[in-house]
Amino acid sequence: MTKAQDKARIGLIGLGVMGSNLALNIAEKGFRVAVSNRSKDKITEFVAAAGELAENLVACDDAKALVRALSRPRAIIIMIKAGKPVDDQIAALLPHLDKGDILIDAGNADFNDTRRRSAELAGKGIDFIGMGVSGGEEGARHGPSIMIGGPKKAYEEIRDIVEAIAARYNGLPCAARLGPDGAGHFVKTVHNGIEYADMQVIAEIYGLLRDGEDRPADKIGKLFEGWNKGPLQSYLVEITAAILQTRDPETGQFIVDLIVDRAGQKGTGRWTVIEALKLGQSASAIEAAVGARSWSSMKDAREAGEALFPPQKEFAPAVLEADMEKAMLAARIIAYGQGFGLMQTASVEFDWDLDLEVVAKIWRAGCIIRSTLLDEIAAAVHEGLPHDLLIFAPALRTRLHETRGALRRVVSSCILQDLPMPAMSAALAYFETMRRGRGTANLIQAQRDFFGAHGFERIDGGSDHHGPWAMSQG
Ligand code: 6PG
Repeated sequence: MTKAQDKARIGLIGLGVMGSNLALNIAEKGFRVAVSNRSKDKITEFVAAAGELAENLVACDDAKALVRALSRPRAIIIMIKAGKPVDDQIAALLPHLDKGDILIDAGNADFNDTRRRSAELAGKGIDFIGMGVSGGEEGARHGPSIMIGGPKKAYEEIRDIVEAIAARYNGLPCAARLGPDGAGHFVKTVHNGIEYADMQVIAEIYGLLRDGEDRPADKIGKLFEGWNKGPLQSYLVEITAAILQTRDPETGQFIVDLIVDRAGQKGTGRWTVIEALKLGQSASAIEAAVGARSWSSMKDAREAGEALFPPQKEFAPAVLEADMEKAMLAARIIAYGQGFGLMQTASVEFDWDLDLEVVAKIWRAGCIIRSTLLDEIAAAVHEGLPHDLLIFAPALRTRLHETRGALRRVVSSCILQDLPMPAMSAALAYFETMRRGRGTANLIQAQRDFFGAHGFERIDGGSDHHGPWAMSQG
């Protein structure tokens, strides 16, 4: 039981949806938490609505009051819009902080910003933690998955709180310090990239059923409900089943049919793709999902396109429901594989020493992409990945052997039916590429050498050969 005069263990700035739920979660676990927000009305409203938990909340009007309300070393969670607002908030707090205090950015931050802030603040003796929090509103309130990057010593100061508020899987907290500086935010970004791909794959199968087979939303929802009992079991499939069967109270229609097909995006998916390319990788299933959201926003143009290019369906064999299920599983494995590959490369590049088994384990509960597949992924990473590729791990390899034919059948049938499948076809193209020892880049090298004398390796040895190129005279 805490007393009103007790100092708070932790502070939290930003009482938006995620911040207020996280504060309530912390208070409920018995920690006294000092809260503040830019608009002061929100602070009073929040504490007034907190019921019994209010006894663990300390309302603070500004940064100075918040810092004063905290025990040392002070640890302050910042949960506000990414970018400049975070820098401004840090600047407002700094004059009131002492060496050894800890600032924690719990928003979805660009990990490059987190690295910069870590370095700048380390120079001032302040420890900075980048904390990825996944699970949406419900997760923040009752148990999110938490991905930490920052100094070990600082993490140890807040570890009891983090582990108490996190989701649990088989009794283990879904929270871990994954490395220094931007490691936590990077992993959260890739989590969101995989989230984008998984959502897009689900939407593509929904599109096949709705547009290719004319099935009503609730029937599609029932199918997803069934799939959620098998290897596709996951939070995203579960909510999709529920969404598709929900009717609009006003019109009685399925609500999904009333929603404009223009998807928003706050940036984490795009960051994943940008970082993938910067690291010389291609997370193509994720990229396709980000791109599909951008195309979705071009609604007027798409409507014009519909008139310009009327349907041109060709005969395509009907797609079996069992194939749809398998194809989604294959695409999901490939998207995870690309995400894990990206984390592995970043870990080497930034010297993070990421433990990808731990990443898979802390994603098994609380976060948006939680799924039974993550158990298999954690076990596969534990055994070691051939060529650092998740898709080559024995368990996932078996899954892909069982599902790759279905992925090919679904994608090819949709292509013939002129239905777009950006993420699933991107996943398939990556898979087919990675299972061919001999590709076609020999021709690309020849072209580069022809127009730019860039040189090429020969299979019979040597690395800087040039071809005897000449334009064909024929
Ligand atoms: C999570 C979610 C969360 C949020 C996304 C939505 O893990 O809890 O990913 O971070 O829902 O930011 O992102 P978009 O607006 O980009 O879809």
